[in-house]
Amino acid sequence: MILVTGGAGYIGIHTSLQLLHEGYELVIVDNFTNSSLESINRLKKITKKQFKLYHVDLLDKSALEMIFRENKISAVVHLAGLKSVGESVRFPLEYYSNNIIGTLNLCEIMKKFGIKSLVFSSSATVYGENNKMPVTENAHLSTTNPYGRSKLIIESILGDLYKSDKEWSIAILRYFNPVGAHSSGQFGEAPNGTPNNLMPFVSQVAIGIREELKVFGDNYTTRDGTGVRDYIHIEDLAKGHIKALSNILESSGLEAYNLGTGKGYSVLEVIKTFEEVSGKIIPYTIVDRRDGDIAECYADPSKAYDKLGWKAEKGLFEMCVDAWRWQKNNPNGYKNSNSKEEIIFT
Ligand code: UFG
Repeated sequence: MILVTGGAGYIGIHTSLQLLHEGYELVIVDNFTNSSLESINRLKKITKKQFKLYHVDLLDKSALEMIFRENKISAVVHLAGLKSVGESVRFPLEYYSNNIIGTLNLCEIMKKFGIKSLVFSSSATVYGENNKMPVTENAHLSTTNPYGRSKLIIESILGDLYKSDKEWSIAILRYFNPVGAHSSGQFGEAPNGTPNNLMPFVSQVAIGIREELKVFGDNYTTRDGTGVRDYIHIEDLAKGHIKALSNILESSGLEAYNLGTGKGYSVLEVIKTFEEVSGKIIPYTIVDRRDGDIAECYADPSKAYDKLGWKAEKGLFEMCVDAWRWQKNNPNGYKNSNSKEEIIFT
């Protein structure tokens, strides 16, 4: 059985869906602070498969240990964590505690049960500033905020763990900018409150929830002056987890992989594509740069292709099509859905 921590979240639900499609048996654990039971309901309906669900926080070590006692877990896909850069600046202790102590608890219990296969969700934010683009996994690592630092610290902890015992098999996945939604329109990004990230903000402007987008700076040294990022379709990202998992189940080692498309798009290019796809005008104004943003960040994803046989297949157009379908079908995310919450926790 595969344990997916944070399995009800945006990346977690898409990864769980892929894992179930691939025939893996699943145990999902989530504390539901930033996710919804409705996504789990939909997962059951769409896959028609059984899986186990625990409403457990990784900080609750004894509850977590119980999950390992009750299930024959062979590997862990660890996605649980707090993920907002801005929030992490305001609440550093919560970020360090949740992300780092949660991971320490998990690894300690895995060690106790002799389970040494782990896929960990990291972020391109660990590349910090001043790297040459496209960025490779060997680039200099640094970061500017507690969220990024928590990821970087965990990467170091996992490195030390592997050095101490070479039987561990760890894949660190450095995500670029996950966007879009499942092509069924059933699963997507459902941020609490005002979205921090570009794509959900643009979708909410298109549907009329927000009046206009603020573009953070148009004086970067990029082709149109706005920030350039490597947006990756959430379904491609989920598939990257499956490839990483099958790789770590077959071998030991510790490797970091960039999960990106290798292509960068500017904010204005994203707006234009979204307008094309939705047929809506996205009003925007240019404002000052956002603190901590860099001009451009895009991946060299060749290591994931060479070693895992994975590459992103969907382009910006499909990302916008799927984000828009999700937004139209679910204007309030997973809230106010008609299906009643019917999952019973394990
Ligand atoms: N942007 C705007 N207006 C907005 C939101 C974003 O102009 O309202 C711009 C940003 O300045 C940036 C681009 O859109 O140029 C993308 O911004 P996002 O906030 O969507 O994404 P970031 O690249 O800033 O951050 C994302 C994740 C982080 C992760 C990082 C890794 O949100 O968690 O990628 O590179 F750490």
